[in-house]
Amino acid sequence: MQVIEPPLEVRDKILRVGGVSTLELAQKFGTPLFVTDENRIRENYKRIVGAFTTAYRKFSLQYALKANNNLSILRILRSMDSGADCSCIEEITLAKKAGYPSNRIIYTGNFNSDIELKLALKEGVMINLDDVAQLPRLRQFGKPEILSFRINPGVGKGRYAGLVFGGRRTKFGIEEKKAVKGYLSAKRSGIRHFGIHVMSGSAILEKKYFPKVAERLLNIAGRIAKKVGIEFEFINIGGGFGIPYKPSEKALDIEFIGKEVGELFTKLPSELSLGTPTLMIEPGRYIVGDTTILLAKVHGKKKGTVTTYVGTDAGMNTLLRPALYGAYHQVYVANRMFHRPNPEKITICGQICENTDVIAEGRRLPLIKEGDILAILNAGAYGFAMSSQYNNRPRAAEVLVNGGTVDLIRERETVSDLTLHQKIPERLKN
Ligand SMILES: Cc1ncc(COP(=O)(O)O)c(C=O)c1O
Repeated sequence: MQVIEPPLEVRDKILRVGGVSTLELAQKFGTPLFVTDENRIRENYKRIVGAFTTAYRKFSLQYALKANNNLSILRILRSMDSGADCSCIEEITLAKKAGYPSNRIIYTGNFNSDIELKLALKEGVMINLDDVAQLPRLRQFGKPEILSFRINPGVGKGRYAGLVFGGRRTKFGIEEKKAVKGYLSAKRSGIRHFGIHVMSGSAILEKKYFPKVAERLLNIAGRIAKKVGIEFEFINIGGGFGIPYKPSEKALDIEFIGKEVGELFTKLPSELSLGTPTLMIEPGRYIVGDTTILLAKVHGKKKGTVTTYVGTDAGMNTLLRPALYGAYHQVYVANRMFHRPNPEKITICGQICENTDVIAEGRRLPLIKEGDILAILNAGAYGFAMSSQYNNRPRAAEVLVNGGTVDLIRERETVSDLTLHQKIPERLKN
C-alpha cells in the first residue's frame, strides 16, 4: 500500500480512499459518485483549530455550509464543536437540523428580504448585515442580541476573478465610513452587543494575506469602536483558506497563519480598546475540499481536430468549478495508477450539451479506455453543492468512508426528482 496524498492510497495499482477500493465503490454505488473520507474532515478541522488556538484561545470556527451541506458532514463537524456560517435561512434550518445551537450560528446574507430578516431574528442567530440600509428593516421586527456588519476592507484576493470578494469591484460588504453610521444607529436603537466581519476572497494560498487582512480589520474595528463607543464581542476574519489543487502547489502554512493572527489578537485589542473579542473564522474549502473525490466512468474517446475528448458521466452538472472559473482539478485513472502517461494530451468532459462542459483540459494521463474509472480530486468543497440537474440529469450520490466502512449519505437522484415539484394544469392533462 502506498499513500499518495491523504486520504488517498494505492494498492495493486488501484486507487483507494478511506481504506476502500474506488472500483468497488463505483461498482456498488454507480457513478458519478462523491466519496468523502471522514477521517480527513476531522484532521482538517483539528489542524486549523489547533493552529489558531495556539496563540489565542478565545476562538470560534464557523463552518461555511455553502461549501458542502451534507447533513452527515455537518454532524461530524458539530461533534467536534464547530459553529456554522450560513448564507440563507435554509442553511440555518440545515444547521439546526444537524444540531448547531442558535448562538453558534452566524447568518451572513446579502440583499436579504424582509421575511429573511424576520426569520433570522426569530431563529436567534448572530446576524451579520451586508448593508447599513438593512438595519431599519431588521429593527421593525425586533432587536437582535448581537449584530455585526460585513466590512469591505478595500482589498481582496481570490484564486480566480470570481472569487475576489473585497476591493472595488464587489457587491459585498460596507465601507468603513458607512459602517460607522451603521454601528451608531444600531447602538442608538438599543442594540448592546456587536461583532465585525470580513470575507475578502476564497481559495487563497498566500499565507501572509491572512494576517494582513486580520490586522486591517482589527484597525478598522478599533477606529469604529472609538468613534461609536462600543466594544466588539467577536472579530470574524472570514474564510478563504486555500488548498492545493495542482500537484505543483504547496499546502497553506496554517500554523504560520494561526500564530500570526493569534499574536495580532493578543496585542492589538488592548491597544485599540477593543475588549477581549472572540477570534472567529469561517472556512469552508479548507475543511472539506480535499476530503472528497468524484468518481466518474469513461463512456468513450473521440479524436477532435485539436484534442482528444474523453467523455465521462461527470460533467459541469456534477462539478461546475472548471466550467465556472476554469478551475483545475487533478485527475487519476483510478484503475491504472502509476502507469506511464500517454504522450497524447486529452480533454475530459461530461455529457452535457454545452461546449463549456469540461472537467480537465490538456492533461497527460495513462492510456484511457472505455469503462475506466476516473477520480477527480478535491471535489469536497463547492462540488456537490454547486451541482445541478441541468440537461435533466439527476444529481450524483454521496458516500462517506472511514477506515474501511462505507455509508451512503445521499442517494442518487432519479428521474422522479426531476419532476418533483412540477404541476401540470388540469387543462393540459388530457
Ligand atoms: C461569507 C462567507 N464566509 C465564508 C465562506 C467560505 O469560504 P471558503 O470556502 O473560501 O473558506 C464564503 C464563501 O464564499 C463566504 O461567502
